[in-house]
Amino acid sequence: MTRGTSVAPVRRTGWREATARALYGPGGFYRSPEGPAAHFRTSVHASPLFGRALAGLARAHGLRGVVDVGAGRGELLRVLAAADPGLHLLGVDVVPRPAGVPGAWSDALPERLAGVLVVANEWLDDVPCEVVEARGGRWHLVLVGEDGTEELAGPVGGADAAWLARWWPPGPDGGRAEVGRTRDEAWADLVRRLDGSVAVAVDYAHGPAERAALPRGTLAGWRGGRQVPPVPDGSCDVTAHVALDAVAAAGEAAGARTLRRVTQREALRGLGVRGDRPEPGLARTDPLAYVRALAAASEAAELTDPAGLGGFGWLEQAR
Ligand SMILES: C[S@@+](CC[C@H](N)C(=O)[O-])C[C@H]1O[C@@H](n2cnc3c(N)ncnc32)[C@H](O)[C@@H]1O
Repeated sequence: MTRGTSVAPVRRTGWREATARALYGPGGFYRSPEGPAAHFRTSVHASPLFGRALAGLARAHGLRGVVDVGAGRGELLRVLAAADPGLHLLGVDVVPRPAGVPGAWSDALPERLAGVLVVANEWLDDVPCEVVEARGGRWHLVLVGEDGTEELAGPVGGADAAWLARWWPPGPDGGRAEVGRTRDEAWADLVRRLDGSVAVAVDYAHGPAERAALPRGTLAGWRGGRQVPPVPDGSCDVTAHVALDAVAAAGEAAGARTLRRVTQREALRGLGVRGDRPEPGLARTDPLAYVRALAAASEAAELTDPAGLGGFGWLEQAR
């Protein structure tokens, strides 16, 4: 007897649901033991100067604790503990507490964040969002299967349509955008918990001018240090840049005061992170100090490079 093979039809959903499953579902990308550091380099991995600057920021605001939202495997917490052993630390991420991480750990934000600096470095770009495509002057929802194949659904309605109308109007047919509403909601939820605290979001960001120059949006995949096609199968990160202007407005609507919205370069320079080379004379008088200062200068230059990490958006809000 011969049997015909039957192929199950691909189940497609919006990118939001597909990404949530691929990153945070059972066996999802962010649940893997190696953690994000194995797949891409954030400011936290680039240099301890980033963490030290954040410890300085907490001090400058008179805050004695730091909550790291989307803490990876606790890399930033280690730097903070070394920079200022008196800081109370809490890491929040979807995995159980990694071994040897200082401070407390949780898989969810506490109800109340009192008297702390909350840091969200490259968190919002990993909050799943819908992807839409323009047809006849309207945005249509893009559906995707676990194999990355897509189809176009009907016009977007409801809250997503309202978000797009305000922040990302459609261009010519075939243009794409990501709906930042979920990032706004995640940030507003965090802001509502602040009580005498400051929250900082640092991320790949865009404003209206950049969005107008992004005809295909910013959805991307990352795996093993390389950019790869975004396929929501758990094998890679699925990320999209953040409409930080919209996030700032959502934070304000949730009761926050914006302290500053600048580039990482401006923010870190203000916190004393500069890429200036050491005086050449130091090489003669103290060669070891010269080499150390040179290494720090090159790390600072990477953190503040306007074409790289220095071009990230930095939003600081208080409530
Ligand atoms: C791009 S990584 C950044 C890691 C770290 N902040 C850094 O800068 O190196 C994003 C992290 O956010 C975490 N994350 C995303 N959404 C989360 C949520 N709702 N709750 C807890 N962690 C979350 C992911 O698991 C992942 O570790």
